[in-house]
Amino acid sequence: MKKYSLKAVLLAIAAIIAAAVSAVVLAFSNVTYGNMKWRIAATFFCISFISSIVLLYVIQLLVFKKIQGLLDTVKGFRSQSDKPLSHAGFDGNEIDRLNNEISAWADDRKNEIERLKKLEVYRKEFLGNVSHELKTPIFNIQGYVLTLLDGGLEDETINRDYLMRAERSIDRMITIIDDLEAISQLETGELQIEPERFDVVALARDVCESQEMKATGKGIILTLPGDSKPHYVYADRFRVRQVLTNLVVNSIKYGKEYGETKIRFYDAGDNISIEVADNGLGIGKEHLPRLFERFYRVDKSRSREMGGTGLGLAIVKHILEGHNQSINVMSTEGVGTVFSFTLKKG
Ligand SMILES: Nc1ncnc2c1ncn2[C@@H]1O[C@H](COP(=O)(O)OP(=O)(O)O)[C@@H](O)[C@H]1O
Ligand SMILES: [Mg+2]
Repeated sequence: MKKYSLKAVLLAIAAIIAAAVSAVVLAFSNVTYGNMKWRIAATFFCISFISSIVLLYVIQLLVFKKIQGLLDTVKGFRSQSDKPLSHAGFDGNEIDRLNNEISAWADDRKNEIERLKKLEVYRKEFLGNVSHELKTPIFNIQGYVLTLLDGGLEDETINRDYLMRAERSIDRMITIIDDLEAISQLETGELQIEPERFDVVALARDVCESQEMKATGKGIILTLPGDSKPHYVYADRFRVRQVLTNLVVNSIKYGKEYGETKIRFYDAGDNISIEVADNGLGIGKEHLPRLFERFYRVDKSRSREMGGTGLGLAIVKHILEGHNQSINVMSTEGVGTVFSFTLKKG
């Protein structure tokens, strides 16, 4: 439909009213003197035209004032009073603007509802995952304790062994709870990043030494660049240690026997890029987009067997996001995996 400006519509209505009034005057006046009849009609036309304009303008002002009020209310809902409301004055486009604001507001609500629905699904999933993860060690402990109570305590061939198994299950629960605590602290922003200047190569060497036992158990060698040139970064040392430990431990857990894990460092402008590369199992392409989600595992039973919680990479991602940095993964099944992340140069 063609859009007419408000002014044009007002003028047209005023002209129609004035023309109607003049026509009535012409029809009913019995003045016959010269062109007096036409003069009277013209005068009536002018008077009624002007008064119609004034009347219509006043009505329009009252109506649009109300619309402007509605517009402000809707805008207020949308902007949550963080943006000043604009009063452009009445220009006749208030109805269009109100329409636009209401549609935008409806879109906002729709997005908000979608977001809340997703959060709700996530919350349910999260609770389900947590209870599922805790169930296994708890049932194991229960089994061992019941067997011991049922006479196993007196049986010297199993009593010590069952207590040790129960202890391992308790360790597993502690690991899960520690990871859950870390993730909830990172997500609620409770955990502050405390940056300092340090040599990330020395830290990586430290991490490799602390994981050497695990690696040699599987015949895996952990290597760092031969030149041992330092690379200084400005980051939270404790958190970066957590990131490197998680990646190195993963490379051992999911690495092949007698394989190799290489840690490399690259200069990347304002940042240092750090790579942890293994020649292990690799990860299928379809898993890569979800790899950093909480509890996501490629092979659930293998991960649990290895003492994994599925939270390690989610924690790693949170820590790096806390540093305003990111992490990437490249992997080919059967060939190996490369995790790379950046840290600000120190
Ligand atoms: N270097 C790797 N090689 C192959 N698969 C990996 C590697 N790192 C992680 N993964 C896969 O990603 C999943 C998620 O890793 P993570 O969050 O650390 O949990 P988990 O506790 O299972 O180690 C793992 O279960 C494993 O399937
Ligand atoms: Mg892990």
